[in-house]
Amino acid sequence: MLKNRATAEATAAYAGRFPHLPANFRSTLGLAISSIGVGTYLGNTDEDSDRAYAEALRAALRGGINLIDSAINYRFQRSERTIGKVLAEMVAAGEIRREEVVVATKGGYITFDGAVPPNPHQWFDEHFIKTGIVSPGDLVEDSHCITPGYLERMLEMSRENLGVETIDIYYLHNPETQLVEIERAEFYTRIAQAFEFLERAVADRRIAIYGTATWNGFRAAPTERGWLALDELARIAREVGGNSHHFRAIQLPYNLAMPEAVTLANQGVASQKTTPVAMAKELGMGVFASASLLQGRLARDLPPILKEAFPELSTDAQRALQFVRSTPGIDVALVGMRSIAHVEEVLALMRHRPASHEALMKLFRPAKA
Ligand SMILES: NC(=O)c1ccc[n+]([C@@H]2O[C@H](COP(=O)([O-])OP(=O)(O)OC[C@H]3O[C@@H](n4cnc5c(N)ncnc54)[C@H](OP(=O)(O)O)[C@@H]3O)[C@@H](O)[C@H]2O)c1
Repeated sequence: MLKNRATAEATAAYAGRFPHLPANFRSTLGLAISSIGVGTYLGNTDEDSDRAYAEALRAALRGGINLIDSAINYRFQRSERTIGKVLAEMVAAGEIRREEVVVATKGGYITFDGAVPPNPHQWFDEHFIKTGIVSPGDLVEDSHCITPGYLERMLEMSRENLGVETIDIYYLHNPETQLVEIERAEFYTRIAQAFEFLERAVADRRIAIYGTATWNGFRAAPTERGWLALDELARIAREVGGNSHHFRAIQLPYNLAMPEAVTLANQGVASQKTTPVAMAKELGMGVFASASLLQGRLARDLPPILKEAFPELSTDAQRALQFVRSTPGIDVALVGMRSIAHVEEVLALMRHRPASHEALMKLFRPAKA
């Protein structure tokens, strides 16, 4: 298991090796983190996909990307295991230091072990119910659980898969899923128990900080069942962890087709409504954008206005990512990549500075009458 975690000194040293990527690294959560991180969600659960991800991850880490995002259930643990293998190899070869890379993962969804077993129900029963890791009443939508006992098991499995002593960012995965079946008061009790567990995991040096990775939670209206109030989550973190609690990051979808993170004022109190990103910044949190290419759909056929706004870029994928990484308040744009060609396209984008406010504003030009 690789000791330690990402540090300010080592991430700054990593950034210093890429002088040709001006303004690519930002100070986020006290670390120098690349404006684009590699995600590992999509793909088949087979060896070809493992190999493709491994090659893409090596190219990314060699090229100037030092944040990797995963979740225990991504490709039934194969993504975490692939990351672990690549990190171990590259550290052993002296290509990188563990402390130079920010490793993020998530827990919340039940996962199989590498592949769907022949009898999934029986497998789940044997591995989770009979072992006492999950009580049937704790499970939502037959697939989601955030109890301390369950998170304890998930965290240990993730540390083993990733081969790291300390996970840099540990997210509760789509916690809003719980609200499908339970009332808000019970939800907040469960969140408090989960945060208490995560604060203990910080004290044990098993994670450095924690956060929430959401899909709908921060994009919903306050009247919707699955809406999340970031200030309330932060209040709970203060209650269980004191003023120096470690609830320090949010992850949420943000791209050209899903701009709510910065356009929807669904957070805060009546007279001071604000957006999720503005609220996160007010609370001093890191903001990580997921699905930056809308699962690949924004990598082609973008309207001509994108070319006009970013004339220095040559592909639609670069333009879509430039929009995300240049948006004020977004610290890191996550993009899933299994192909070296895609990594190279992203590295070429990173040679350019993020777009100016003026260039971004061209995208918000009023339509001609
Ligand atoms: N709720 C959550 O917590 C949540 C939800 C969604 C995503 N995420 C995180 O955010 C990450 C990014 O989102 P995502 O992977 O769902 O979608 P995405 O980043 O929007 O899109 C990934 C897709 O775009 C393709 N692609 C990448 N670079 C490209 C390029 N230069 N040109 C053309 N196509 C390109 C990839 O192909 P190849 O793979 O073939 O390279 C892949 O099919 C995830 O991997 C995950 O870590 C979190």
